[in-house]
Amino acid sequence: MSPTAHGPARRPRWDPELETRYAGLGATLEPLLPCLEWPLHLPWIDAIRTLKRERGAVIMAHSYQSPEIFHGVADVTGDSLALARAAADCEADLIVLAGVHFMAESAKILAPHKTVLIPDLEAGCSLAASITAADVRALRARHPGVPVVSYVNTSAEVKAESDACCTSANAVQVVEAMAAEFGSGTVIFLPDRFLGHHVARHTGIGLVLWDGRCEVHEQFTAQQARHARERFDARLVAHPECPPEVQEEADFVGSTTAMGAWLEREKPARVALITECSMADNLRARFPRVEFIKPCNLCPHMQRITLPNIHACLQALRHEVVVPADIAARARTALERMLAVGRHDRA
Ligand code: 13P
Ligand code: SF4
Repeated sequence: MSPTAHGPARRPRWDPELETRYAGLGATLEPLLPCLEWPLHLPWIDAIRTLKRERGAVIMAHSYQSPEIFHGVADVTGDSLALARAAADCEADLIVLAGVHFMAESAKILAPHKTVLIPDLEAGCSLAASITAADVRALRARHPGVPVVSYVNTSAEVKAESDACCTSANAVQVVEAMAAEFGSGTVIFLPDRFLGHHVARHTGIGLVLWDGRCEVHEQFTAQQARHARERFDARLVAHPECPPEVQEEADFVGSTTAMGAWLEREKPARVALITECSMADNLRARFPRVEFIKPCNLCPHMQRITLPNIHACLQALRHEVVVPADIAARARTALERMLAVGRHDRA
């Protein structure tokens, strides 16, 4: 088991009765995990479920979390938009965000009176690390009057300098809404250059881009995509953080939740998911008839979250996410503008 900041995590005791109690979960998880792993996870899953009941906590997990977290202990799962909405609507006073730091910050900003914990404060993101608040101020000075839309994969400080946030699920709609509201044919779009390419293609709005990239998705190539199609006769689904030439090979480009909706509609016999590897594991349980060709690119930041450190953070109530009040207030305005666009769409 991985060590924690307070020394090695101690695995809860094995109880043979657990196998019977969690037989249903075992049937879901065993095919998704490397052999022999299930019995190692089971005592942690049981201990975390007990502890979260005692603490009145809600565990929210991103779609890129490992199956034992996603299926084993999460109360809410989804893409970054779904998690932001869930945080805004959440009734519990304690949220554990099994995801990366910007997701936990968004939860804290949208639920300021709640305690938000992240199991590992070092779980970052190459996109969030690519840009600072000073960079945004410099861009604004260079493009006066042009609205700024920031991907949620940014720090609270960057969100605070932005007019609106977006996720990969609503980037097109948010950019269109901001261009209309500001009466501008141009939008500053940060920091993901490849998501920017996807948005520009679907809106026709001129975008000022930043050169941020996701270190996981930028590794995919058009050649790999073609190989998956030709060798495995697979349909191709790509995340918009992939390079443009990969997006162009795909049958569908969308956020992690949109990928699930596409599978629901299309029911392909075989699909290659060009995104983080855990995503295929988590969808495999939902679509047992679909054969998944999965890549092996794992996000090193998402992988920092483990059952032992979820247990440790719940037990010690540690790694609280704190956002200074003035930054939180401005970042909330940008996030709420994003959520308002979504509400409009769903009405
Ligand atoms: P989603 O917006 O699809 O959840 O993606 C977030 C992310 O970090 C993808 O790499
Ligand atoms: Fe960031 Fe990429 Fe990891 Fe998503 S997959 S959290 S964008 S580094």
